[in-house]
Amino acid sequence: MDSILVRGGAPLHGDIPIAGAKNACLALMPATLLTDGPLTLTNSPRLSDIRTMTTLLRSLGAEVQSLQDGKVLAMSSHDLTSDTAHYDIVRKMRASILVLGPLLARTGRAIVSLPGGCAIGARPVDLHLRALEALGAELELKDGYVHAAAPAGLKGGKVSFPFVSVGATENVLMAATLAKGTSVIENAAREPEIVDLARCLRAMGAEIEGEGTPTITVEGVDALNGATHRVVTDRIELGTYMLAPAIAGGDVTCLGGEMSLVQSFAERLQATGISVEETGRGLRVARTGNRIGAIDVSTAPFPGFPTDLQAQMMALLTLADGVSHLEETIFENRFMHAPELTRMGANIEVHGGTATVTGVAGLKGAPVMATDLRASVSLILAGLAAEGETTVARVYHLDRGYERVEEKLKACGADIERIAA
Ligand code: UD1
Repeated sequence: MDSILVRGGAPLHGDIPIAGAKNACLALMPATLLTDGPLTLTNSPRLSDIRTMTTLLRSLGAEVQSLQDGKVLAMSSHDLTSDTAHYDIVRKMRASILVLGPLLARTGRAIVSLPGGCAIGARPVDLHLRALEALGAELELKDGYVHAAAPAGLKGGKVSFPFVSVGATENVLMAATLAKGTSVIENAAREPEIVDLARCLRAMGAEIEGEGTPTITVEGVDALNGATHRVVTDRIELGTYMLAPAIAGGDVTCLGGEMSLVQSFAERLQATGISVEETGRGLRVARTGNRIGAIDVSTAPFPGFPTDLQAQMMALLTLADGVSHLEETIFENRFMHAPELTRMGANIEVHGGTATVTGVAGLKGAPVMATDLRASVSLILAGLAAEGETTVARVYHLDRGYERVEEKLKACGADIERIAA
């Protein structure tokens, strides 16, 4: 498996283009299953997770064409040939569960393997299943598969989530577009990816109100049509690259970045002393002073600080003046990067869901690896500031979520390369 070699110390100057959002695209792609019309997504990111979703949709009979070097996905689910999402594909990516709602809503039947995904704690799908039951789905768990049926079609219903789930909100939102009658989703996720999905579904003819607020109302329609939709900017890729000049020094503009996508993250970054400015081209981030201020961070559903930027923020705080606390409230066991950062000289103690990071004067390069996407990129960020060479192994995880990470950083002056296995 390839690895990434970083030689730390070079400040970064220039522009980094931010791609379309992986997590938005992974929810938008299954929306093709809701219609026999063509659905085209532009600004799609070129990532292995997108290829996995492509394989899954094709296995159900959907046509998925990757055009313009993967930036455009032209899909059609005119002739679905299977109602089963097999374990072999689903185990690679948790977001595969997002085919369940649309498939069931369109065909009245779906059999979907229980998912795998990043190793960041127990990630059940009970909320997805309860929500679909509230729309009249009959569910049975057998041999690791969810067997779902709605012989007379789904019916509008009230879904009240006990806590916020991005994926479960997406699944039931898609299903509700074709249910008979009105559905109300309470305590819905408010992430920009949900808003993007609702916009696309509306372009397909769905009647949806309230996306971006905790209550979404959907009036079911008989059928949806095709549409063309541009995938929203990836706020996690944006936040990750905003941290690159913060940790390595320099001045970088993240092209296409918008403050509204990363407000709470940007405010925490500014609190460390980093300058963040919205320009006509994107978000410009510069490190002006020598030192980084210690801060406290607690992850929360949008509009709070994203769990998907916790590991990357920790990399910066290892070099802060003083003691920072990072509290992880969304996932258990999401500090796998801490022992690896410690091997690079960081001082981190983890107790339950909180990591206490005591800033050190410098990091030292080391061979490291991580089994989670965001943890892997946090080690690359740390490597940009570390003395000597850092080799990040198992870049398989990195390629799931970052398009050409070494090219984007190299273009701004980083000393970084991919070593082919
Ligand atoms: C999505 C993102 C992921 C991000 C996460 C939280 C995608 C493809 N992935 O994941 O990058 O880290 O949102 O912002 O969009 N839970 C249950 N039962 C369920 C569903 C979730 O207990 O049925 C729990 C999870 O274990 C977790 C919490 O709810 O502790 C939030 O998870 P959720 O928002 O569902 O995350 P995903 O949609 O899987």
